[in-house]
Amino acid sequence: MIHDNSEMTTQRRRTDIDRQWWKEAVVYQIYPRSFNDSNGDGIGDIPGITEKVGYLDDLGVDVVWLCPVYDSPNHDNGYDIRDYRAIMDEFGTMADWEELLDELHARDMRLIMDLVVNHTSSEHEWFQRSRRREGKYEEYYYWRDGSPDEPPNNWQSIFGGPAWSYDDNREQWYLHLFDENQPDLNWRNPDVREDVKEMITWWLEKGIDGFRMDAINFISKPEGLPDGDPDARLVGHEHYAHGPHIHEYLQAVYDDTLANYDTMTVGEMGGTSIDKTAEYLGERNSGLDMMFQFNHLAVDDGPNGPWSLDGWGAWELTDFKEIVTRAQDELAAEFWEALFLGNHDVPRIVSRFGDDEEYHEESAALIATFLLTLRGTPYIYQGEEIGMTNAEFDTLDELDDVMTIGKVEELIEAGAIDSFEEVRGLVNYLSRDHARTPMQWSDDPHAGFTDGEPWFGVNDNYRDINVDAALTEENSIWRHYQSLISLRHELDTLVYGAYELLLPDHEQLFAYTRTLGDEEVLVVLNWSDEPTTFDAADIDSSSAEILLSNYEQSPENPHGREFRPYEAILYRL
Ligand code: GLC
Ligand code: CA
Repeated sequence: MIHDNSEMTTQRRRTDIDRQWWKEAVVYQIYPRSFNDSNGDGIGDIPGITEKVGYLDDLGVDVVWLCPVYDSPNHDNGYDIRDYRAIMDEFGTMADWEELLDELHARDMRLIMDLVVNHTSSEHEWFQRSRRREGKYEEYYYWRDGSPDEPPNNWQSIFGGPAWSYDDNREQWYLHLFDENQPDLNWRNPDVREDVKEMITWWLEKGIDGFRMDAINFISKPEGLPDGDPDARLVGHEHYAHGPHIHEYLQAVYDDTLANYDTMTVGEMGGTSIDKTAEYLGERNSGLDMMFQFNHLAVDDGPNGPWSLDGWGAWELTDFKEIVTRAQDELAAEFWEALFLGNHDVPRIVSRFGDDEEYHEESAALIATFLLTLRGTPYIYQGEEIGMTNAEFDTLDELDDVMTIGKVEELIEAGAIDSFEEVRGLVNYLSRDHARTPMQWSDDPHAGFTDGEPWFGVNDNYRDINVDAALTEENSIWRHYQSLISLRHELDTLVYGAYELLLPDHEQLFAYTRTLGDEEVLVVLNWSDEPTTFDAADIDSSSAEILLSNYEQSPENPHGREFRPYEAILYRL
């Protein structure tokens, strides 16, 4: 826990920087289903990713995080795993996967896999045997007695509806924090923990470089599974998040598996405070190198969280700066931070935090500048490097995501809305499906993603926004990402330098310095569509070298303090 090692922390600050390859890395996240289809069946696949390894190398990224590619019936696009040691047929074979790993390693890139062990698919052999009460599998999941019309407690599924389903076969209820096809593994059972560890070692032995750990703060549930506060936004969350044995379980996983390999790990923690997040980091805690925490992404939530019917979508830069700064100070400075704004579960970053129309290029480049100049390890989600935007969904039928559909159905059942129409705006603001439209490679049919019919509709704007166009244009968003990544590789200051926020109350500018030894870098971002003036009394940028900017800088006014809409400048002071 952090309070126990404050002495160690002070000491660490005084000594040299603690270099780690994963701190210096830039990660690229791939959602395989939507990345690149190699065989024309409309579904992205592993050979399709291998075809693009050169593309990723040109961009300059160091690590690829692959969302689940395991055998799965795809109720939640691979986050419902049927067999942890097999590749999903639609994605290819184990030999294809091995070839991808080799190709990445041949170019000095690393591969991390998604570790989904809070739950399995209901089609997983463990669950099938558990339903039949077979041998050691009997208590592999959370089974409870009760009459078929009354769940054992009041917990709600994160995807909408009760967190329990009744199994007619075993005549008992089983727990699922996510979809009914994703039963929660019973981590209280030591056999479960052993099986999971064996599986982790199996993948590490295949030569992977680490894991992204899905919903990892949910794996320990308290004895008795007590009712949650019925008025909470996620009923039961106070019990199943950070449960009583969480650190013990994670520590054991680390000691018995990861500790024997050179890996990086990043945990996913929804609905977690920065304080709580810190408890998972540090050497003798849980062996997690960094965490995806979502406090900064809550900035535009309505009063009842992301699925508030009113009051969503508005956010103040000053609030955002405060949250980001807290995480920089309390996570990145003390331990490390996972830097991200987008992933496969949230809307497109330029639509959400920038301007996907008038200042599309400028704002996408500004956001990139932000992500790649903070302290921590940046994660780029596929398509961000070309400024892919949200799509437009007119009817519920056009959506695919189990969560969006589940949430809409929950609202209808609760009588909060009568039809999809009433939440169309909200869904178009936050659906996970925005991030899942196929990658836009070219202006060929279906954006060059497939020669067949894509499994999910391509965003109409692919004729303008695509990789081919970005590669031919000199000042494209893509080039900006490439330059930022290479600057990060050159300048230790961008990786390890101390972060200091300037002008906390400024409503348009997000400005900060990064300092390491006698090198100081200044980042000034005009995060708005109106011009403004940068004036920080103790900083003189007039003689500073501009390392990168997203506008052309005129020779007459080389270091002007006037910032144009979404102008972003990186200086060396
Ligand atoms: C995580 C994943 C998400 C998935 C859920 C259940 O939040 O990022 O895509 O639906 O866990 O596995
Ligand atoms: Ca395919």
